[in-house]
Amino acid sequence: MIQAAIMGYGTIGSGVAEILEQNQAEITRAAGQNVALKYVLDLRDFPGTPIADKIVHEFKVIEEDPDVQIVVETMGGLNPSYPFVKASLEAGKHVVTSNKALVAAHGTELLAIAKKKGVNFFFEASVGGGIPIIRPLYRCLKGEKIEEITGILNGTTNYILTKMDKEGETFEHALKEAQELGYAERNPEADVEGQDTCRKIAILTAMATGKEVNYEDIYTEGITKITDVDFKYAEKLGTSVKLFGSSRIQGDEVHAFVAPVMIGRDHPLYMVSDVFNGILVKGNMLGTTMYYGSGAGKLPTASAVIADIIEAAQNEKQNVPMGWTDERLEIAEMETSAHRYFVRIAGTAAEKLAEVTTLFGEVTVVELDGLDEFAVLTGKLTEAAFQDMAAKLDQGYQAAGEDGIRQMIRAEVE
Ligand code: HSE
Repeated sequence: MIQAAIMGYGTIGSGVAEILEQNQAEITRAAGQNVALKYVLDLRDFPGTPIADKIVHEFKVIEEDPDVQIVVETMGGLNPSYPFVKASLEAGKHVVTSNKALVAAHGTELLAIAKKKGVNFFFEASVGGGIPIIRPLYRCLKGEKIEEITGILNGTTNYILTKMDKEGETFEHALKEAQELGYAERNPEADVEGQDTCRKIAILTAMATGKEVNYEDIYTEGITKITDVDFKYAEKLGTSVKLFGSSRIQGDEVHAFVAPVMIGRDHPLYMVSDVFNGILVKGNMLGTTMYYGSGAGKLPTASAVIADIIEAAQNEKQNVPMGWTDERLEIAEMETSAHRYFVRIAGTAAEKLAEVTTLFGEVTVVELDGLDEFAVLTGKLTEAAFQDMAAKLDQGYQAAGEDGIRQMIRAEVE
Protein backbone atom coordinates (compact mmCIF):
# COMPACT_ATOMS: atom_id res chain seq x y z
CA MET A 1 0.00 0.00 0.00
CA ILE A 2 1.12 3.55 -0.72
CA GLN A 3 -0.40 6.55 1.07
CA ALA A 4 -1.30 9.90 -0.43
CA ALA A 5 -2.35 13.33 0.75
CA ILE A 6 -4.34 15.90 -1.22
CA MET A 7 -3.59 19.59 -0.66
CA GLY A 8 -6.64 21.66 -1.60
CA TYR A 9 -10.14 20.14 -1.59
CA GLY A 10 -11.60 22.31 -4.32
CA THR A 11 -12.95 21.20 -7.69
CA ILE A 12 -9.92 19.15 -8.75
CA GLY A 13 -8.90 17.89 -5.31
CA SER A 14 -12.39 16.57 -4.57
CA GLY A 15 -12.41 14.95 -8.02
CA VAL A 16 -9.17 13.15 -7.20
CA ALA A 17 -10.63 11.83 -3.91
CA GLU A 18 -13.74 10.72 -5.78
CA ILE A 19 -11.82 8.79 -8.46
CA LEU A 20 -9.49 7.21 -5.87
CA GLU A 21 -12.63 5.83 -4.25
CA GLN A 22 -14.67 4.93 -7.35
CA ASN A 23 -11.89 3.44 -9.48
CA GLN A 24 -10.03 1.83 -6.60
CA ALA A 25 -9.80 -1.60 -8.27
CA GLU A 26 -8.46 -0.19 -11.56
CA ILE A 27 -6.00 2.06 -9.75
CA THR A 28 -4.72 -0.77 -7.54
CA ARG A 29 -4.25 -3.02 -10.56
CA ALA A 30 -2.38 -0.33 -12.52
CA ALA A 31 -0.26 0.89 -9.59
CA GLY A 32 0.55 -2.62 -8.42
CA GLN A 33 -0.55 -1.68 -4.93
CA ASN A 34 -3.42 0.00 -3.13
CA VAL A 35 -3.33 3.83 -3.13
CA ALA A 36 -4.86 5.04 0.13
CA LEU A 37 -5.83 8.62 0.87
CA LYS A 38 -4.51 9.53 4.32
CA TYR A 39 -4.98 13.31 4.56
CA VAL A 40 -6.78 16.17 2.88
CA LEU A 41 -5.30 19.57 3.61
CA ASP A 42 -7.76 22.44 3.49
CA LEU A 43 -8.67 25.52 5.50
CA ARG A 44 -12.25 24.28 5.65
CA ASP A 45 -13.86 21.25 7.32
CA PHE A 46 -16.17 19.03 5.32
CA PRO A 47 -18.46 17.47 7.93
CA GLY A 48 -20.63 14.61 6.71
CA THR A 49 -18.44 13.90 3.67
CA PRO A 50 -16.32 10.76 3.14
CA ILE A 51 -13.12 12.73 3.73
CA ALA A 52 -14.26 14.48 6.94
CA ASP A 53 -11.93 12.34 9.11
CA LYS A 54 -8.97 12.95 6.80
CA ILE A 55 -9.03 16.75 6.96
CA VAL A 56 -5.95 18.46 8.38
CA HIS A 57 -5.32 22.19 8.55
CA GLU A 58 -1.55 22.14 9.00
CA PHE A 59 0.84 21.25 6.17
CA LYS A 60 3.36 20.06 8.77
CA VAL A 61 1.18 17.01 9.48
CA ILE A 62 1.73 15.84 5.89
CA GLU A 63 5.35 16.96 5.68
CA GLU A 64 6.33 15.15 8.87
CA ASP A 65 4.41 11.92 8.26
CA PRO A 66 6.82 9.38 6.70
CA ASP A 67 3.86 7.20 5.68
CA VAL A 68 2.72 9.82 3.14
CA GLN A 69 4.71 9.15 -0.01
CA ILE A 70 2.60 10.97 -2.60
CA VAL A 71 1.46 14.57 -2.19
CA VAL A 72 -1.19 15.84 -4.59
CA GLU A 73 -1.24 19.61 -5.01
CA THR A 74 -4.56 20.95 -6.29
CA MET A 75 -4.61 24.32 -4.55
CA GLY A 76 -3.61 26.46 -7.53
CA GLY A 77 -1.65 29.71 -7.42
CA LEU A 78 1.87 30.01 -6.08
CA ASN A 79 1.38 30.65 -2.41
CA PRO A 80 1.40 28.44 -0.41
CA SER A 81 1.54 25.76 -3.09
CA TYR A 82 5.16 26.50 -4.04
CA PRO A 83 6.65 26.27 -0.52
CA PHE A 84 4.46 23.23 0.28
CA VAL A 85 5.44 21.38 -2.91
CA LYS A 86 9.11 22.23 -2.47
CA ALA A 87 9.07 21.04 1.14
CA SER A 88 7.26 17.83 0.16
CA LEU A 89 9.91 17.01 -2.44
CA GLU A 90 12.70 17.92 -0.02
CA ALA A 91 11.09 15.51 2.44
CA GLY A 92 11.47 12.75 -0.19
CA LYS A 93 7.82 12.57 -1.23
CA HIS A 94 6.52 12.34 -4.79
CA VAL A 95 4.45 15.34 -5.87
CA VAL A 96 1.66 15.38 -8.44
CA THR A 97 0.13 18.72 -9.40
CA SER A 98 -2.50 20.21 -11.68
CA ASN A 99 -1.10 23.70 -11.18
CA LYS A 100 0.23 25.23 -14.43
CA ALA A 101 1.20 28.50 -12.74
CA LEU A 102 3.43 26.55 -10.35
CA VAL A 103 4.99 24.37 -13.08
CA ALA A 104 5.59 27.33 -15.41
CA ALA A 105 7.14 29.48 -12.67
CA HIS A 106 9.10 26.90 -10.62
CA GLY A 107 9.17 23.70 -12.69
CA THR A 108 12.92 23.77 -13.28
CA GLU A 109 13.75 23.93 -9.60
CA LEU A 110 11.10 21.40 -8.55
CA LEU A 111 12.17 18.90 -11.24
CA ALA A 112 15.78 19.22 -10.06
CA ILE A 113 14.84 18.63 -6.41
CA ALA A 114 12.76 15.58 -7.39
CA LYS A 115 15.72 14.16 -9.34
CA LYS A 116 18.13 14.80 -6.47
CA LYS A 117 15.80 13.13 -3.99
CA GLY A 118 14.99 10.16 -6.26
CA VAL A 119 11.28 10.97 -6.33
CA ASN A 120 8.96 12.35 -9.02
CA PHE A 121 7.33 15.68 -9.83
CA PHE A 122 4.50 14.97 -12.27
CA PHE A 123 2.09 17.51 -13.82
CA GLU A 124 0.02 15.85 -16.56
CA ALA A 125 -3.10 17.78 -15.47
CA SER A 126 -1.42 21.18 -15.73
CA VAL A 127 -1.92 21.33 -19.52
CA GLY A 128 -5.00 20.22 -21.44
CA GLY A 129 -6.89 19.05 -18.32
CA GLY A 130 -7.75 15.40 -18.93
CA ILE A 131 -6.04 15.17 -22.33
CA PRO A 132 -2.87 13.07 -22.25
CA ILE A 133 -0.21 15.44 -23.59
CA ILE A 134 2.69 15.65 -21.11
CA ARG A 135 3.13 11.86 -20.97
CA PRO A 136 3.06 11.40 -24.78
CA LEU A 137 5.85 13.97 -24.98
CA TYR A 138 8.18 12.12 -22.60
CA ARG A 139 7.16 8.59 -23.56
CA CYS A 140 5.59 7.98 -26.97
CA LEU A 141 7.28 10.87 -28.82
CA LYS A 142 10.61 10.61 -27.02
CA GLY A 143 12.56 9.72 -30.16
CA GLU A 144 11.10 12.56 -32.22
CA LYS A 145 12.44 16.00 -32.87
CA ILE A 146 9.37 18.07 -32.11
CA GLU A 147 8.95 20.73 -34.80
CA GLU A 148 5.65 22.24 -33.78
CA ILE A 149 3.18 22.29 -30.93
CA THR A 150 0.05 24.31 -31.55
CA GLY A 151 -2.84 24.10 -29.16
CA ILE A 152 -6.24 25.44 -28.27
CA LEU A 153 -5.32 25.22 -24.62
CA ASN A 154 -7.97 27.27 -22.85
CA GLY A 155 -11.56 26.06 -22.63
CA THR A 156 -13.05 29.37 -21.51
CA THR A 157 -11.77 31.37 -24.48
CA ASN A 158 -12.62 28.56 -26.88
CA TYR A 159 -16.18 28.58 -25.57
CA ILE A 160 -16.39 32.38 -26.03
CA LEU A 161 -14.96 32.30 -29.57
CA THR A 162 -17.25 29.40 -30.54
CA LYS A 163 -20.31 31.36 -29.35
CA MET A 164 -19.16 34.41 -31.33
CA ASP A 165 -18.57 32.25 -34.39
CA LYS A 166 -21.66 30.03 -34.37
CA GLU A 167 -24.21 32.41 -32.81
CA GLY A 168 -22.91 35.83 -33.82
CA GLU A 169 -22.56 36.92 -30.19
CA THR A 170 -20.43 39.84 -29.04
CA PHE A 171 -17.35 39.13 -26.92
CA GLU A 172 -18.97 40.71 -23.86
CA HIS A 173 -22.15 38.64 -24.16
CA ALA A 174 -20.28 35.37 -24.74
CA LEU A 175 -18.02 36.08 -21.75
CA LYS A 176 -21.03 36.73 -19.54
CA GLU A 177 -22.50 33.40 -20.61
CA ALA A 178 -19.24 31.59 -19.93
CA GLN A 179 -19.18 33.14 -16.44
CA GLU A 180 -22.80 32.15 -15.78
CA LEU A 181 -22.02 28.56 -16.78
CA GLY A 182 -19.03 28.57 -14.41
CA TYR A 183 -16.45 28.16 -17.21
CA ALA A 184 -14.79 31.54 -16.81
CA GLU A 185 -13.39 32.77 -13.53
CA ARG A 186 -15.16 35.76 -11.97
CA ASN A 187 -11.96 37.61 -12.82
CA PRO A 188 -11.46 36.13 -16.28
CA GLU A 189 -8.28 38.04 -17.11
CA ALA A 190 -5.93 35.03 -17.04
CA ASP A 191 -8.14 33.28 -19.59
CA VAL A 192 -9.14 36.10 -21.95
CA GLU A 193 -5.78 37.89 -21.92
CA GLY A 194 -4.02 34.64 -22.88
CA GLN A 195 -1.94 34.26 -19.70
CA ASP A 196 -3.31 30.77 -18.97
CA THR A 197 -2.51 29.63 -22.51
CA CYS A 198 0.94 31.24 -22.23
CA ARG A 199 1.88 29.14 -19.20
CA LYS A 200 0.58 25.98 -20.87
CA ILE A 201 2.50 26.47 -24.13
CA ALA A 202 5.61 27.34 -22.08
CA ILE A 203 5.32 23.99 -20.27
CA LEU A 204 4.77 22.07 -23.54
CA THR A 205 7.69 23.83 -25.21
CA ALA A 206 9.97 22.99 -22.28
CA MET A 207 8.81 19.36 -22.43
CA ALA A 208 9.45 19.24 -26.18
CA THR A 209 12.92 20.79 -26.08
CA GLY A 210 14.16 19.63 -22.66
CA LYS A 211 15.10 23.23 -21.87
CA GLU A 212 13.69 25.75 -19.43
CA VAL A 213 11.24 28.23 -20.93
CA ASN A 214 10.61 31.60 -19.35
CA TYR A 215 6.92 32.12 -20.05
CA GLU A 216 7.50 35.86 -19.98
CA ASP A 217 9.56 35.48 -23.19
CA ILE A 218 6.45 34.32 -25.05
CA TYR A 219 4.54 37.01 -26.93
CA THR A 220 0.99 36.91 -25.54
CA GLU A 221 -2.14 38.48 -26.94
CA GLY A 222 -5.64 37.57 -25.74
CA ILE A 223 -9.07 37.63 -27.37
CA THR A 224 -10.54 40.82 -25.90
CA LYS A 225 -10.15 42.76 -29.17
CA ILE A 226 -11.90 40.14 -31.32
CA THR A 227 -15.34 41.34 -32.38
CA ASP A 228 -18.53 39.98 -33.90
CA VAL A 229 -17.64 41.91 -37.09
CA ASP A 230 -14.42 39.86 -37.42
CA PHE A 231 -16.54 36.70 -37.37
CA LYS A 232 -18.77 38.07 -40.13
CA TYR A 233 -15.71 38.34 -42.36
CA ALA A 234 -14.51 34.94 -41.14
CA GLU A 235 -17.81 33.39 -42.21
CA LYS A 236 -17.52 34.88 -45.67
CA LEU A 237 -13.96 33.57 -45.93
CA GLY A 238 -14.95 30.10 -44.67
CA THR A 239 -12.66 30.53 -41.68
CA SER A 240 -12.84 30.80 -37.90
CA VAL A 241 -10.76 32.48 -35.19
CA LYS A 242 -9.18 30.43 -32.39
CA LEU A 243 -6.82 31.33 -29.57
CA PHE A 244 -3.57 29.47 -30.27
CA GLY A 245 -0.61 28.80 -28.06
CA SER A 246 2.09 27.77 -30.48
CA SER A 247 5.77 26.88 -30.71
CA ARG A 248 7.54 26.33 -33.99
CA ILE A 249 10.94 24.74 -33.48
CA GLN A 250 13.55 24.65 -36.24
CA GLY A 251 16.91 23.71 -34.77
CA ASP A 252 18.00 26.54 -32.51
CA GLU A 253 15.33 28.88 -33.83
CA VAL A 254 12.18 28.74 -31.71
CA HIS A 255 9.19 30.95 -32.35
CA ALA A 256 6.49 30.88 -29.71
CA PHE A 257 3.37 32.98 -29.31
CA VAL A 258 -0.12 33.15 -27.90
CA ALA A 259 -2.60 34.98 -30.13
CA PRO A 260 -5.95 34.68 -31.88
CA VAL A 261 -5.39 33.09 -35.29
CA MET A 262 -7.75 32.95 -38.26
CA ILE A 263 -7.80 29.39 -39.61
CA GLY A 264 -9.51 27.65 -42.51
CA ARG A 265 -11.79 24.62 -42.40
CA ASP A 266 -8.92 22.37 -43.44
CA HIS A 267 -6.85 23.24 -40.35
CA PRO A 268 -6.67 20.25 -37.97
CA LEU A 269 -7.78 22.45 -35.05
CA TYR A 270 -10.80 23.97 -36.84
CA MET A 271 -13.25 21.45 -35.35
CA VAL A 272 -12.13 22.01 -31.74
CA SER A 273 -15.12 23.91 -30.34
CA ASP A 274 -16.84 24.93 -27.11
CA VAL A 275 -14.89 24.17 -23.93
CA PHE A 276 -12.82 21.46 -25.58
CA ASN A 277 -9.07 21.68 -26.06
CA GLY A 278 -7.06 20.34 -28.97
CA ILE A 279 -3.31 20.07 -29.36
CA LEU A 280 -1.37 19.40 -32.53
CA VAL A 281 2.16 18.01 -32.17
CA LYS A 282 4.39 17.61 -35.20
CA GLY A 283 7.40 15.32 -34.99
CA ASN A 284 10.14 15.22 -37.63
CA MET A 285 9.63 11.50 -38.35
CA LEU A 286 6.06 10.95 -37.20
CA GLY A 287 4.43 13.96 -38.81
CA THR A 288 1.33 15.49 -37.24
CA THR A 289 -0.52 13.99 -34.27
CA MET A 290 -3.57 15.39 -32.55
CA TYR A 291 -4.79 15.24 -28.96
CA TYR A 292 -8.37 16.24 -28.20
CA GLY A 293 -10.68 16.23 -25.20
CA SER A 294 -11.81 18.00 -22.06
CA GLY A 295 -9.23 20.62 -21.19
CA ALA A 296 -10.82 21.55 -17.87
CA GLY A 297 -13.41 20.36 -15.38
CA LYS A 298 -13.44 18.29 -12.22
CA LEU A 299 -13.27 14.65 -13.29
CA PRO A 300 -11.30 15.04 -16.57
CA THR A 301 -8.56 17.02 -14.79
CA ALA A 302 -8.64 14.71 -11.77
CA SER A 303 -8.29 11.74 -14.15
CA ALA A 304 -4.94 13.11 -15.34
CA VAL A 305 -3.86 13.59 -11.70
CA ILE A 306 -4.75 9.95 -11.01
CA ALA A 307 -2.59 8.77 -13.92
CA ASP A 308 0.35 10.64 -12.36
CA ILE A 309 -0.38 9.14 -8.93
CA ILE A 310 -0.26 5.69 -10.53
CA GLU A 311 3.05 6.46 -12.26
CA ALA A 312 4.49 7.71 -8.97
CA ALA A 313 3.32 4.53 -7.21
CA GLN A 314 4.84 2.39 -9.98
CA ASN A 315 8.12 4.27 -9.55
CA GLU A 316 8.07 4.51 -5.78
CA LYS A 317 11.83 4.20 -5.46
CA GLN A 318 13.07 6.01 -8.55
CA ASN A 319 12.96 9.25 -10.48
CA VAL A 320 11.48 8.86 -13.96
CA PRO A 321 13.55 10.93 -16.42
CA MET A 322 11.24 13.64 -17.78
CA GLY A 323 10.95 17.40 -17.93
CA TRP A 324 13.75 19.83 -18.62
CA THR A 325 17.07 21.15 -17.36
CA ASP A 326 18.02 24.64 -16.23
CA GLU A 327 19.44 25.46 -19.67
CA ARG A 328 17.27 28.36 -20.87
CA LEU A 329 15.61 28.06 -24.28
CA GLU A 330 16.01 31.15 -26.37
CA ILE A 331 12.74 32.28 -27.92
CA ALA A 332 13.07 34.38 -31.08
CA GLU A 333 11.67 37.92 -31.02
CA MET A 334 8.06 38.01 -32.20
CA GLU A 335 8.96 40.56 -34.88
CA THR A 336 11.02 37.91 -36.69
CA SER A 337 8.16 35.40 -36.98
CA ALA A 338 6.18 35.31 -40.22
CA HIS A 339 2.42 35.00 -40.73
CA ARG A 340 -0.35 35.92 -43.09
CA TYR A 341 -2.57 38.73 -41.75
CA PHE A 342 -6.28 39.42 -41.89
CA VAL A 343 -6.61 43.21 -41.88
CA ARG A 344 -9.75 45.37 -41.71
CA ILE A 345 -9.27 48.77 -43.31
CA ALA A 346 -11.51 51.85 -43.31
CA GLY A 347 -12.91 53.05 -46.64
CA THR A 348 -13.74 51.11 -49.77
CA ALA A 349 -11.57 48.65 -51.63
CA ALA A 350 -12.18 50.71 -54.81
CA GLU A 351 -10.50 53.75 -53.20
CA LYS A 352 -7.78 52.08 -51.18
CA LEU A 353 -6.76 48.82 -52.82
CA ALA A 354 -4.00 50.28 -55.01
CA GLU A 355 -2.30 51.77 -51.93
CA VAL A 356 -2.82 48.55 -49.95
CA THR A 357 -1.27 46.32 -52.62
CA THR A 358 1.62 48.73 -53.13
CA LEU A 359 2.42 48.29 -49.44
CA PHE A 360 1.46 44.67 -48.69
CA GLY A 361 1.82 43.04 -52.11
CA GLU A 362 -0.86 40.75 -53.49
CA VAL A 363 -3.88 40.37 -51.17
CA THR A 364 -7.26 38.63 -51.09
CA VAL A 365 -10.06 41.19 -50.68
CA VAL A 366 -13.29 40.63 -48.69
CA GLU A 367 -16.16 43.08 -48.57
CA LEU A 368 -19.34 42.94 -46.50
CA ASP A 369 -22.53 44.83 -47.30
CA GLY A 370 -23.34 47.85 -45.19
CA LEU A 371 -19.89 48.48 -43.71
CA ASP A 372 -17.68 51.53 -44.25
CA GLU A 373 -14.63 49.29 -44.50
CA PHE A 374 -13.19 46.25 -46.27
CA ALA A 375 -10.74 43.52 -45.34
CA VAL A 376 -7.75 41.84 -46.92
CA LEU A 377 -5.72 38.69 -46.34
CA THR A 378 -2.06 39.37 -46.98
CA GLY A 379 0.63 36.93 -48.04
CA LYS A 380 3.22 35.73 -45.52
CA LEU A 381 5.18 38.61 -43.97
CA THR A 382 7.37 38.96 -40.91
CA GLU A 383 5.78 40.82 -38.00
CA ALA A 384 8.35 43.59 -38.41
CA ALA A 385 7.57 44.03 -42.12
CA PHE A 386 3.83 43.96 -41.45
CA GLN A 387 4.04 46.56 -38.66
CA ASP A 388 6.11 48.81 -40.89
CA MET A 389 3.63 48.54 -43.78
CA ALA A 390 0.65 48.99 -41.46
CA ALA A 391 2.20 52.14 -39.96
CA LYS A 392 2.72 53.55 -43.48
CA LEU A 393 -0.90 52.83 -44.41
CA ASP A 394 -2.15 54.43 -41.20
CA GLN A 395 -0.12 57.60 -41.81
CA GLY A 396 -2.32 58.63 -44.72
CA TYR A 397 -5.45 58.19 -42.60
CA GLN A 398 -4.00 60.00 -39.61
CA ALA A 399 -3.36 63.05 -41.76
CA ALA A 400 -7.13 63.06 -42.41
CA GLY A 401 -7.89 62.43 -38.70
CA GLU A 402 -9.24 58.89 -39.34
CA ASP A 403 -8.44 55.41 -38.17
CA GLY A 404 -7.10 53.30 -41.01
CA ILE A 405 -6.45 49.77 -39.79
CA ARG A 406 -9.32 48.65 -37.57
CA GLN A 407 -8.21 45.10 -36.92
CA MET A 408 -5.33 42.71 -37.50
CA ILE A 409 -5.55 38.96 -36.89
CA ARG A 410 -2.77 36.56 -37.81
CA ALA A 411 -3.98 34.00 -40.32
CA GLU A 412 -3.11 30.42 -41.19
CA VAL A 413 -5.25 29.97 -44.24
CA GLU A 414 -4.18 28.06 -47.35
N1 HSE B 1 -9.38 28.38 -17.02
C1 HSE B 1 -8.84 27.21 -17.67
C2 HSE B 1 -9.59 26.97 -18.98
C3 HSE B 1 -8.97 26.03 -16.76
O1 HSE B 1 -10.61 27.62 -19.21
O2 HSE B 1 -9.14 26.18 -19.79
C4 HSE B 1 -8.12 24.85 -17.15
O3 HSE B 1 -6.76 25.14 -17.08
